[in-house]
Formats: sequence, structure tokens, C-alpha cells
Amino acid sequence: MRIRVPATSANLGPGFDSMGMALALYNTLTVEESDVLRIPALPGSRMEEHLVYRSMCALWELAGVVPKTITLTQEDEIPMTRGLGSSAACIAGGLLAANAMAGYPLDRAALLDLAAALEGHPDNVLPALLGGITVGVMEAGHVHALRMDPPKGLRCVAMIPAGELSTAKSRGVLPPQVSRKDAVYNLSRAALLAGCLATGDLSQLAVATGDAMHQPYRTALIPGWREVEDCARQAGAAAVTISGAGPTMMTWWTGPVPGAVVWSRRLEGIAGDWQALPLDFDTIGAVILE
Ligand code: HSE
Repeated sequence: MRIRVPATSANLGPGFDSMGMALALYNTLTVEESDVLRIPALPGSRMEEHLVYRSMCALWELAGVVPKTITLTQEDEIPMTRGLGSSAACIAGGLLAANAMAGYPLDRAALLDLAAALEGHPDNVLPALLGGITVGVMEAGHVHALRMDPPKGLRCVAMIPAGELSTAKSRGVLPPQVSRKDAVYNLSRAALLAGCLATGDLSQLAVATGDAMHQPYRTALIPGWREVEDCARQAGAAAVTISGAGPTMMTWWTGPVPGAVVWSRRLEGIAGDWQALPLDFDTIGAVILE
């Protein structure tokens, strides 16, 4: 069985741990039932720690199905530990495979709940499973999900630095509490952003993508972020957000996007060794190819 899972960009600025979008950059998993567990990319005793396999076992346990052994190989396009949803892709792909191998014991809602529980928040796993742009709210262990197609005229270019940044480290710098002022700053912008994306009125993206809850704390962990943001805004970007926990910076465009040669010239010399990667949206989500 081959499963294709898209990259994702979470938070979208103010929608911390809630909003996300799927991007046309893919990991492809090949999963076959086998007599023993074989994961050539992670040999030895650590195979059982592989996030794809752990996710599969979690589904089988929840469904009351005897765990199976598999051979797992992966072709990865999504860079790891860069804020583009590589962990969510492992979870989404593993759950889809395990559910299919067990004869589909989990329905869509149960699959989303389990994916969000494994990831800890729904902002990457929802777009990874559903495609498009998603809003996810957790209540009493259940995900309340809303999915929309990306609005016409919106494009994204991911600015990806060479260095990695773990989600744990990036969450570790966030304060445990936020002020009412910052809460209002974010909830008003998250509401405006959801409205902009749902209606296709992109004229207020610059304000709607503002954030006071996580980005101001995380930029200290991202060398060169200010120069990259300035460079994108000067070139006409409508908005710039940290993608997920970073360090990738997502630039949002409603007009012309500079080409590869212009980007490599503009990004040259900025600390962090950045690359510009234009990305289409994915509107399908994780899918079993064969
Ligand atoms: N919402 C998460 C964060 C995404 O910003 O930490 C990364 O898992």
C-alpha cells in the first residue's frame, strides 16, 4: 500500500494550535504486512519508536485489533524539523495505513480525534488528513473541524533555512500565560483571518495574520528571520508568518511572486542559509495511492 501525505503549515499567525493549511509537497509511505517489523531507515531496536509505526499501533490498540508487523519505506519531500508538518505526515500516513489494513474500524471523526491526540494539537494533522485550509478546536478529546478550499489568488512561498528547530524547543520559549490584551489581539485576528480565507477577501491579510502569542518569542530562535521578512515584504508579500513552530517562514502573496533567480540573489548573505520554495496548496489531504 502506498500513501501520499502533504506538508502542512500550522498556526497561520494568530491561529496558534488551531489553524493550518496543506501544501503540495509530499511524503510517500510504502507499507506492507510482513513476518517481522522492517524499517530500513531506523533499523534495530528503535524501529518500534518510528512515529509512523507508533501511530499505526495506537490505532490498532484503540480499535481492539491485534498489532501487525510491517515493512515500511518512505520517500520524503517534506524537510524534517523545519515547521512543515513532517511529524503530522507520519501520523496521518500511519493512521490511514493502519485503518485500511484493519478493514476501516475507525470512521473519519475517530481518525481525526486520534490524530490530534497523537500530535497534541489539531493544526497540522487536520490539513494533513483533509487538505485545504482547516480550523480545529479540541473539546473533551474530540476535534471540531472545519475545512475550506484555499481562496483564489492566494499563493505561498516557504522560506526554509538550513538549520533545524525542534517543536519542543520552540514551545519551550513560550510563556505559560498570556495577557488579556494579547488574547484579544490574537482572537480578533484569528476571527478576521478565518473570515478573509472563507470569503476570499484577502485585502486585510497583513493585519489578519498578526500574532502576539508565539511568534514574538520564537523569532529569537530563528537566525535571519527579520531580514527574510523584510526581504519578502519589500518584494510585495501580503503577509509573513512563522510556519508551525518554525524555523520556516511562510510568505503569503496575492500579487506577482519573484522568481527563483531573484530570490537566490535577495536571500544571499542572510544568516541561516535560506531557500525560497514556492508551494501550491494541496486540497486532497492524505490519500492511499494503491
Ligand atoms: N501549533 C504548533 C506550535 C505547531 O506552534 O507549536 C507545531 O507542532
